[in-house]
Amino acid sequence: MKFKIKRSNGEKSWFDTFEIKPGPHMSVLEALFQIQDEKDSSLAFRYSCRGAVCGSCAMLINKKQRLACRTQVSEILGERVLTISPYGPVAKPEIKMGEDILIEPLPNLPVIKDLIVDMKPFFKHYEEVVPGFDVMDQSLMETPMSPMSQNDVKKVDKYAACILCGLCYGACPAAARDSDYLGPAALANAWRFYADTRYHSKDEMLNRVNSRNGVWACNEVYRCVEVCPKNVQPTNAITGFMRKIIVYKMKHLLR
Ligand code: SF4
Ligand code: FES
Repeated sequence: MKFKIKRSNGEKSWFDTFEIKPGPHMSVLEALFQIQDEKDSSLAFRYSCRGAVCGSCAMLINKKQRLACRTQVSEILGERVLTISPYGPVAKPEIKMGEDILIEPLPNLPVIKDLIVDMKPFFKHYEEVVPGFDVMDQSLMETPMSPMSQNDVKKVDKYAACILCGLCYGACPAAARDSDYLGPAALANAWRFYADTRYHSKDEMLNRVNSRNGVWACNEVYRCVEVCPKNVQPTNAITGFMRKIIVYKMKHLLR
């Protein structure tokens, strides 16, 4: 079994191919461990939980954004993939052929070394939409929070399941075009607060996401929904915001 891995030292990049013996039920992360142990100890990649919880091992595997710890080698061996690459200014078809398993760093983020990308731009956007105490409704500070109904909890639960892996950001054509775009995970998180019945600064949140770099940059191609390992469905949050913004504007026009 051969792994073709994109390497980088921050200045230049190249591909190295490593041959290893597949183990039973081996994940891509375990294969990377074996390569690091037996072939090249300088191979750099991130991981922590090994169980699809921490989101650290996000990368491009056979041209698809996936978690290395959750991807079984047996399921992707000999895989042929035709994908539309959103990376760069123009979308173009990309075909992954051959028996090698192709491993590359997550797109749309600067590469630090090999498969390790700099997540700072991703987290910067995420923080831009997290409400701080300055914008939280003062009444929340002064009165005890009312409990949410099970139905209300269900509405935000899905969005709160995000593990911040960045797979959606790495698959997003809008993020590829514009690094200022807030991105799918940040907007899903914004919706998680917006839809929370205990959060009252709704208009303020609409203003935050109503911009060229906010919800209106989205192409609505559902790449984020396709790759998300936790079924967060960021595009639904984004289109939800679009509808709310339109209603808000119409209400203010008719006043
Ligand atoms: S929305 Fe999904 S793909 Fe995006 S960071 Fe969260 S868990 Fe990962
Ligand atoms: S190592 Fe934690 S999600 Fe893969």
